[in-house]
Amino acid sequence: MPTTRRVLFVCLGNICRSPTAEGILRAELERRGHHDRVEVDSAGTGGWHVGDAADPRMRRAASARGYDLTSRARQVTAEDFQRFDLIVAMDRQNLADLEQIAPPPAERRADLRLFSSFLPYGGPEDVPDPYYGGPDGFDHVIDLIEEAAAAIADHLAGDGTVA
Ligand code: 4NP
Repeated sequence: MPTTRRVLFVCLGNICRSPTAEGILRAELERRGHHDRVEVDSAGTGGWHVGDAADPRMRRAASARGYDLTSRARQVTAEDFQRFDLIVAMDRQNLADLEQIAPPPAERRADLRLFSSFLPYGGPEDVPDPYYGGPDGFDHVIDLIEEAAAAIADHLAGDGTVA
């Protein structure tokens, strides 16, 4: 029985970008038949929306592409660095905020990576926060995450624990 791998996506509010990454990666894993071997979760560096469903604008845009976003917001904790194998920050500020609460690399399980490092053809360093912008921002978030989903699934499979 292969070891379960755990991946956590982190943005600021955990109601737009990271719940979408959670939903899209889960769909990619289901296509590959890997969904029972990888746990996918998301969290926010901020706590303002704890307990909330994903933003209705984000859910609507995701639903139009066939993704059902079901997560409830929670705030990331230092313990997440022991529970997860991979933590993916959606932008550079999220990464900096995660570094502030992370245990030293030698004392944590999780590999901490910037989302854009998984974009196969390059692209923006940050997944832009769509919260205060217009409707195009939500579609752009989905475009970027769809582009990277296969590379993230490959990465999780690539160490031999998910074949
Ligand atoms: P997210 O977007 O980080 O992609 O979930 C945001 C949602 C809410 C807020 C900021 C960003 N906010 O300030 O309430």
